[in-house]
Amino acid sequence: MDYTVTPPSKIDQSISLPGDKSISIRALILNTMANGSAHISNLCEGDDRISILRCLVGLGSQIDICNPCPEQHRGDCFNVVGKGSSGLVKPTSELDAGNSGTTMRLLTGLLATQPFTSVISGDESLRSRPMGRIIQPLSLMGATISGKKNNTLAPLVVQGKSLTGIDYLMPQASAQVKSSILIAGLNATGKTTVHQPAKSRDHTERMMRFMGANIKEEGLSISVTKSELVSKDVIIPGDASGAAFWIVAGCCHPNARILLKEVGINPSRIHIIDVLKSMGASIEINNVREDGPEPIADILVKSSELVGTTIEGNSIPYIIDEIPVLAIAATMAKGTTVFSDAAELRLKESDRIRATADGINSLGGHVEEHKNGLTIHGTKTLTGSYVNSYGDHRIAMAMGIAGLIGKGKTVVSGAEAAAISYPDFWKILDSLCLIDKV
Ligand code: S3P
Repeated sequence: MDYTVTPPSKIDQSISLPGDKSISIRALILNTMANGSAHISNLCEGDDRISILRCLVGLGSQIDICNPCPEQHRGDCFNVVGKGSSGLVKPTSELDAGNSGTTMRLLTGLLATQPFTSVISGDESLRSRPMGRIIQPLSLMGATISGKKNNTLAPLVVQGKSLTGIDYLMPQASAQVKSSILIAGLNATGKTTVHQPAKSRDHTERMMRFMGANIKEEGLSISVTKSELVSKDVIIPGDASGAAFWIVAGCCHPNARILLKEVGINPSRIHIIDVLKSMGASIEINNVREDGPEPIADILVKSSELVGTTIEGNSIPYIIDEIPVLAIAATMAKGTTVFSDAAELRLKESDRIRATADGINSLGGHVEEHKNGLTIHGTKTLTGSYVNSYGDHRIAMAMGIAGLIGKGKTVVSGAEAAAISYPDFWKILDSLCLIDKV
């Protein structure tokens, strides 16, 4: 569908975020592998949630919606009855991970240790994303996994068996790959160690420690040994990557004040705030508190004058999902912003380097696309036009924010892709400005 965004003259809004997708998926998988039962509140929303729930239920996991929630927690609540490390059952049909790379990669680590054969696949986008990066280390642990195109693409056929720990130097910083190996390591014999080239989001490590796993971190290396997890109630923090859209909106609109409540502020997820602050943004983090394995806070953002910056190297994994919307912010900055070492962006739900450059240039911005990144010349204005989401949720939302802060009407084609991670995104945007849907 085409959604047309007409920018408002003023924004003054308080926004609550849906539960964090990465943390939700880990809370569901690890509580399914645990002993006991757990109450998970404020679970993520959207099609990726449907994908992980569908796969886990297909494996015999007992997950029920808790509605109305007796504890009156925010968002949607679910009860998960743990199946322990070996209580899953052989699925009767192919597991469908939909568009969710996190579901496919993390679950494959678990499937590889189960005493049955299973097949996991997904939509066209997911079936084109690289899976050799998990097949290779899991095979070194003794797993038998085959896939299309010389074992690099899904559908994956996973013949579960007893695995043995490995000491693995990861070729790329990836939280999904790290997590897949660590989840397999929880059920493997001996010690499993991953050495990361740079830090990536650490929700798996935090959740495993919270649930009693034998896990140790030393610098960039993480080790686990066979562990029986204990089920734990979790209140999922507001999604930091969802918050990023409103943070950029608040900084870049000329007359804005946006308060974001109960957002996860794990340092591996809010690097966008450090970057925007270094560009001159007015962002306050208030009421910092910790509830369970993750810190949360309220974030206040106001209109700001930004200047260009350079983002490269080890910073990239910490803002990998925020680069498209940060690129929109860069168009409003004085001077040039450069993103380098970000080739991973080409392997996401779409080629996000191409999609971001294409969108911004269509709006009258000035972006040069490189093999590994982008150079954005701040023009301090975007002019409404027609932009494509490429069927990618984060591109659809980044272009919606471009429309909010630009001039004239911006038409986002394939806008409904936002439902993958943030089904209420357009409803909230609609409360800030005028949206026409056709
Ligand atoms: C995720 C990790 C990131 C990110 C993805 C979610 C996760 O991918 O892009 O949206 O939940 O582990 P990497 O595997 O590249 O770190």
